[in-house]
Amino acid sequence: MAKITFNDIGHSYDKNPNQENWALKPISMTWESGKSYALVGPSGCGKTTILNIISGIVNPHQGQITFDDVDVTKVPTVKRNVALVFQFPTIYKSMTVKENLAFPLVCRGWKADAINVRVGEVAEQIGISHKLDRSATKLGADEKQLISLGRGLVRDDVTALLMDEPLTVIDPQLKFELRKKIKQIIQGKDITVVYVTHDQYEAMTFADELLVMELGNLVQRGTPEELFENPISNYVGNFIGSPAMNFIKADLSNGLAEVGGYKIATSTNLSKVTDKKIQLGIRPEYVELHSGSGENVISAELIGIDDLGSTRILNCRFGEGIIKAKIPRSTTPPPLGKVGLRLPKEKVIGFKGGFQIR
Ligand SMILES: Nc1ncnc2c1ncn2[C@@H]1O[C@H](COP(=O)(O)OP(=O)(O)OP(=O)(O)O)[C@@H](O)[C@H]1O
Ligand SMILES: [Mg+2]
Repeated sequence: MAKITFNDIGHSYDKNPNQENWALKPISMTWESGKSYALVGPSGCGKTTILNIISGIVNPHQGQITFDDVDVTKVPTVKRNVALVFQFPTIYKSMTVKENLAFPLVCRGWKADAINVRVGEVAEQIGISHKLDRSATKLGADEKQLISLGRGLVRDDVTALLMDEPLTVIDPQLKFELRKKIKQIIQGKDITVVYVTHDQYEAMTFADELLVMELGNLVQRGTPEELFENPISNYVGNFIGSPAMNFIKADLSNGLAEVGGYKIATSTNLSKVTDKKIQLGIRPEYVELHSGSGENVISAELIGIDDLGSTRILNCRFGEGIIKAKIPRSTTPPPLGKVGLRLPKEKVIGFKGGFQIR
């Protein structure tokens, strides 16, 4: 498996000189060998473009891409040895499951015995050994997708496994199982995996590291925990987490934030911030119901409750906005009206101009 590096890689499909409009703004970054990464972001932010640049399907407008420090920028897709799994399973319809899995090895001139052994191993991993002689067309979408994956993994020279929204066409009830299975299959293997998804939950449960994208920019990379606890911007705070991070407008004077008549202590050092207006961010998971008084205990108005089954979301009016508190099912929600909340200082982060104050 290869360490993949982008050196100042950028791409414009129409060779537009104005970088503002590029599908991928120039970036330099490394994907470490043996780790799994999820590229997340809304439609059109450049996820597939990155994948296609890694695989060689797209030649970048500028920059250099290396596999294990060897320049592959001009190397065609077939010679890069990447395994690709797309949204729609790619299956050779006239072939059996076994023939499908064997195909990449047949193309590479492997001997029949060696093919049998290798296909047997991979079929075992993807849990399809009992269906090897079936026609591939007769399988469900989830099994077809496993075969697409198996066909990628069957080769012994794969540099990276690239998956572009592989669960999109899978029934919701099978998605969870398939994701778990894919994760099990790649776990412990020395595979560099780049996985594209719209779905933050899918990304967080799958990858070692998330790469959050916006309009062709990589805005933050980190573990699920890093992105949850320490979002670099309002965009990441909104994109990661469900519901999104609360952002509350606050006035700042002498380094102290104030909202609706309450002084709010923050984990961010605000003493050097000269702006008069900032925002405070806190995750709904960290907002606590609290009777009594104390640091960062506020009085808000509970105006509605969303029941999500295992948890409830309390929508509370405070200052000029709404604070959401996520509480477990086991906690009895208070009646609508006045409610005491505590915003633990260590979980309150300062933001200005859309970015975290550092
Ligand atoms: N072949 C192409 N020719 C011209 N423009 C393209 C082409 N492919 C993508 N684009 C544009 O480049 C930008 C990034 O597209 P890309 O497909 O990488 O986004 P994405 O994040 O994968 O989106 P989605 O989640 O919808 O798959 C978009 O503005 C898109 O319209
Ligand atoms: Mg895409």
